[in-house]
Amino acid sequence: MFSLAEEIKKAQENNTAIGHFNISNLEMLKGVILATQELSIDEKVPVIIGLSENERKYIGDNQIMAFIKSLREETNHPIFINADHCKSYESAEKAVHAGYDSIVVDNSKLPFLENIKATKKTTSILKNINPEIIIEGELGFIGESSTLLDKIPSEVEITEESITKVIDAKKFVDETEVDMISPAVGNMHGILKNFLNPNLHIKRIKEISEEVKIPLVLHGGSGTATEEISEAIKSGIAIIHFSTDLRIAFKNGLTDLVENYFPNNPNEITPYRYMIIPTDEVKKVVIERLKLLQNLKS
Ligand code: G3H
Ligand code: ZN
Repeated sequence: MFSLAEEIKKAQENNTAIGHFNISNLEMLKGVILATQELSIDEKVPVIIGLSENERKYIGDNQIMAFIKSLREETNHPIFINADHCKSYESAEKAVHAGYDSIVVDNSKLPFLENIKATKKTTSILKNINPEIIIEGELGFIGESSTLLDKIPSEVEITEESITKVIDAKKFVDETEVDMISPAVGNMHGILKNFLNPNLHIKRIKEISEEVKIPLVLHGGSGTATEEISEAIKSGIAIIHFSTDLRIAFKNGLTDLVENYFPNNPNEITPYRYMIIPTDEVKKVVIERLKLLQNLKS
């Protein structure tokens, strides 16, 4: 049986990062798994399947767990599952009971001391339920929507003055006893429609990593320049989240179906034939991202 803690350790030793991909449906799940398998030539490439609270509601915790468990058994592949951005204790607790490997305890909208208090409390209760569970705490607000944006949401912490401070990260980690931390370091959820996403503060990532000495997670991977992702990994990032990229890919696949495939195949009504198109679009994006994160040749 594979262990997420072991895979994270391995990633840090090898200067690589584990890809975390959010899914909304089974086609997207299939796209991610196919990508991972296709790249596992010399060594098995680990992957984390992420579900936000709304994605969990749409698919169902027990239903996705049954899928993940059976995929692990059949493929013997390091596939992990993360309950992403749990905004309430109840949501986090439900995910632990369902069997998720890791939980993102997201109190990032709260003021600093309240975030510490709430995260510490939730972490300790969740660890009591399952001592093996991996808990990620969030410090700094990076927005909430994995979508296309006209502008950077006003409350997102992007500037050098507003991003996560090293001293705060240290206090947060010491007091909450989380296993991993996701700081705000210039990253943001979603992709800007008409501009490039802001640059990452690589120096700050390195400083936080050296001080807290636990793995760092980078949210908002979509729209981040490839060179910055590579630098972030060298500076201490062990897991990178992608969602908007996959949502765009899936929708592009659906658009292709409607605009090209159906007009050319008017009698085709069998979903398992045509849904290969959006699944394949997701697979392509995941392959590209995993190659970057895992330092695999193109
Ligand atoms: O937790 C989800 C990720 O942080 C996704 O961010 O949609 O910008 O890739 P993204
Ligand atoms: Zn996120």
